[in-house]
Amino acid sequence: MKRCACLCLLLGLALSLMMAARGIVLAQAQPQLTSAYRADALPADDPLSAAWAEAPTLNVPLIPQAGVAPALLQATIPSVNVQSLNDGRTIAFRVTWDDATPNWHATHTDEFRDALAIQFPTAPDAATICMGAAGQLVNLWHWKADWQYDIDNGFHDLPDAYPNFYLDHYPFVSGEPPYRVPGDFDEEAKAYMAGWAAGNRFSNPSRPSPVEDLNAMGFGSTHSQERQDVAGKGIWRDGRWSVVFARPLATEDANDVQFAAGQTTSVAFAVWDGAEQQVGAIKQLSSWVPLRIQAAAAQAQPTAVVAQPSPAPADNTTLFIILALVALALVIAAFAWIYFRLPES
Ligand code: HEM
Repeated sequence: MKRCACLCLLLGLALSLMMAARGIVLAQAQPQLTSAYRADALPADDPLSAAWAEAPTLNVPLIPQAGVAPALLQATIPSVNVQSLNDGRTIAFRVTWDDATPNWHATHTDEFRDALAIQFPTAPDAATICMGAAGQLVNLWHWKADWQYDIDNGFHDLPDAYPNFYLDHYPFVSGEPPYRVPGDFDEEAKAYMAGWAAGNRFSNPSRPSPVEDLNAMGFGSTHSQERQDVAGKGIWRDGRWSVVFARPLATEDANDVQFAAGQTTSVAFAVWDGAEQQVGAIKQLSSWVPLRIQAAAAQAQPTAVVAQPSPAPADNTTLFIILALVALALVIAAFAWIYFRLPES
């Protein structure tokens, strides 16, 4: 009996030591996104700029949002490639992913547009990935293909989606039907476009940015910020979306994530595929990814070292595994010694 109990204990210990060794490796191996410092102007409005080649690329896997209804059961977009650059004042991100069809509009009732969001915790300690929680405010930057289309081509309105759409009169409108928004609507006429007049960003035909700056404390609480200070641009080419976001590192908005050179924070991604009728909760998302913001000083270092490239920092993973195995062997030996000294019962 004593021997049997001892054996179980030994096996349990061995298992936990092995799991600990594996945990060290996993923790060490979690990839991080580095926002590389760039002294020259950032390609903040050019998703296809060659300057993005300077930024390290991280492939971030996505999973379907299957936890809350309406859910997505199978991801249609398996991963995104992400990069970041900063010049010590502004930070820019580029996200690219494969998507066979660009879905620009959500004007028809059965039409859904492509979209992408980046999520940041606004406080140092990590927030719940599901858009924060009570007391955990997250800042979300939501790029929308239909807003991008409106900026690139003019406001895509009902007459564009429904060519036979006809409206013979609007109070105080100028021009001839079909009336064009915003061109034919001065301030007086605008008052009869309730959503636009009330400041609803979805109804605003003159979009300052294709990105909406949002906050949430858990899903279901998403709301648009008063201050919108995220710029962006998205281009679809050859079956691939490339979207950039840019914002000053620090802003005056207490509801914004604040970045600083040399800081490490977290970032997460979510993508909607309009061709698959994805919107709101129906999306694919990533887990939190560590984000390190390289400072000018750190960037300057490599130049000096480049002459005599410094050896890569020692990878301790192997050392940890060896130490763990040695410890395991010692423990097993100790237990074996005890085991065989125990009387056979
Ligand atoms: C498992 C985790 C998540 C769950 C259960 C979830 C659930 C939801 C739900 C129910 C909505 C619709 C209600 C609302 O607007 O708040 C929503 C909207 C939204 N979510 Fe999430 N979410 C999750 C993670 C994320 C992540 C990681 C991001 C960003 C990286 C994100 C970005 C958004 C955005 C931008 C909207 C508004 C979409 C729109 O208006 O079209 N969510 N989410």
